[in-house]
Amino acid sequence: LGVEAPKSWTHVVREVPTVTQEQRRKALEMTHYNEFAFPAGLLYIDCLSDSGTTSMTDTQWSAMFLADESYGRNKGYYVLLDAFRDVWERGDNQKRLINYIKEGVDKDDVEKMMNEVYLVDYEGGFINGGKYQLSRPNTFIVPQGRCAEALLFDVLKPLFAKRWPGKVFTIPSNAHFDTTEGNIKQMGNVPRNLFHKEILFEVPKSGKYEKNPFKGDMDIDKLNQLIEAVGVENVPLIYSTVTNNSVCGQAVSMKNIREVSKIAHKYNIPFVMDGARWAENCYFIKMNEEGYGDKSICEIAKEMFSYFDVVSASLKKNGHANMGGVLAFRDKGLFWQKFSEFNEDGSVKTDIGHLLKVRQISAYGNDSYGGMSGHDIMALCQGMYEEARFDYQDERVRQCQYLADGLTANGVPVVQPAGGHGIYIDVDKFFNYKRGHESFAGQALSLEMIHRYGIRCSELGDFSMEYDLKTPEQQKEVCNVVRLAINRSQFSKQHMDYIIAALTQLYKDRDTVPNLKITFGHTLPMRHFHAWAEP
Ligand code: F0G
Repeated sequence: LGVEAPKSWTHVVREVPTVTQEQRRKALEMTHYNEFAFPAGLLYIDCLSDSGTTSMTDTQWSAMFLADESYGRNKGYYVLLDAFRDVWERGDNQKRLINYIKEGVDKDDVEKMMNEVYLVDYEGGFINGGKYQLSRPNTFIVPQGRCAEALLFDVLKPLFAKRWPGKVFTIPSNAHFDTTEGNIKQMGNVPRNLFHKEILFEVPKSGKYEKNPFKGDMDIDKLNQLIEAVGVENVPLIYSTVTNNSVCGQAVSMKNIREVSKIAHKYNIPFVMDGARWAENCYFIKMNEEGYGDKSICEIAKEMFSYFDVVSASLKKNGHANMGGVLAFRDKGLFWQKFSEFNEDGSVKTDIGHLLKVRQISAYGNDSYGGMSGHDIMALCQGMYEEARFDYQDERVRQCQYLADGLTANGVPVVQPAGGHGIYIDVDKFFNYKRGHESFAGQALSLEMIHRYGIRCSELGDFSMEYDLKTPEQQKEVCNVVRLAINRSQFSKQHMDYIIAALTQLYKDRDTVPNLKITFGHTLPMRHFHAWAEP
């Protein structure tokens, strides 16, 4: 027919009011031009974040009905840990536990549930189970991604101070997300972002721009140089963010992950995955990297996870859920060996997993819910399986690409290819390289999109990434971009077409976009969440 058959349809409807430009201007003024403070109920399309904004599937909503709100060892705890094992480590997506719960097996066959669900021991991976989760805890459920980061760094901070007093550490990544940077900085350490900037943007005359499906890769030369420059003993962890959110949502290749893992392990440095968008990254590997075309998302995930020692993930993205996060490390792996304390006879003196568990309990809750309600947990369990479906990922990623292609066709400078969770405007090119770094023109562009068209974007450039507060070395690692994040399973082609039309018009009118002046909170950490501004 020349058109594709649809793969989903809308089941619940949210209506939005008609709001005038003048009403939006007034709301902007009254919220001090802080885009996070702008009321969502006055927008047509909210592209601020793909985090927790997902429209869940009917199966997720029905899974919530099966939730168990028990304080200790609720049913969902077992299902969630097994869902992680299924999609990240087994490679074959059995869905055994979630099906037992759905079918009510636990009522009819108690022996089976005891033997196959409640009292099963697992060890050796990221998700210990049964007695091993008690003796060597390695999986920590938390409400969202930044809680996993805070949990990790809150525990490491005093440990580092005791073992290496007064030392400042460097933590490299292909690019940290802003909360990860914030957590690392608050611990007194230095985050570094080692992506290939030259291949991202089409900078006139640089000649380096590449049509590369893996622009999220870490620059291996930069990593080697950094380790040499600061000394291997001053690099306690290496991160890779998949997909690379701060670098235009670009994918990271398996080849790059393998190479960075090799370097990290050569130096005995634990390798940490920020896995917020693990499934989108696996989709890109399947579609674009040689040797993976025939593999399922779960098979690819299994290999990808095998290169890491720690995973820290917001599950508000690739958990297809509104809430959730996790921190996990490989049982008895490098992270455990490096940060636990041992007696002379080799027995464990202090297990890093127990330190993390104590902190988890004091900050978020008992290990079997970690600050999530039982129904959040069940929605997430089902969401993990939704994310592993090829058809769903294919539809999602192609929706982002449709948006990017529509804008490119109209001359609006967006980074190509589209990211897995949205599109990114090259702000410097948008303004013909005429605005300086302290004009915060990208943030002004975002605010004008709200004002003129009722669309909220998110600036991830000079303003939010604090260009003016960074060292010259770190300044080179800022991508001056505005992102339009695409909420999962929510938007239609009409939404995309409205965004294309609006951004194209704003691009034509770009000279009328004012610069922005920060009037309060210039130096507050993560200022974009709380600073005030004026055009
Ligand atoms: N890591 C990455 C790569 C992220 O994109 C985010 C959140 C986090 C960690 C923190 O997770 O929000 O659950 O606490 N990113 C959102 C965004 C907020 O809009 O990109 P969180």
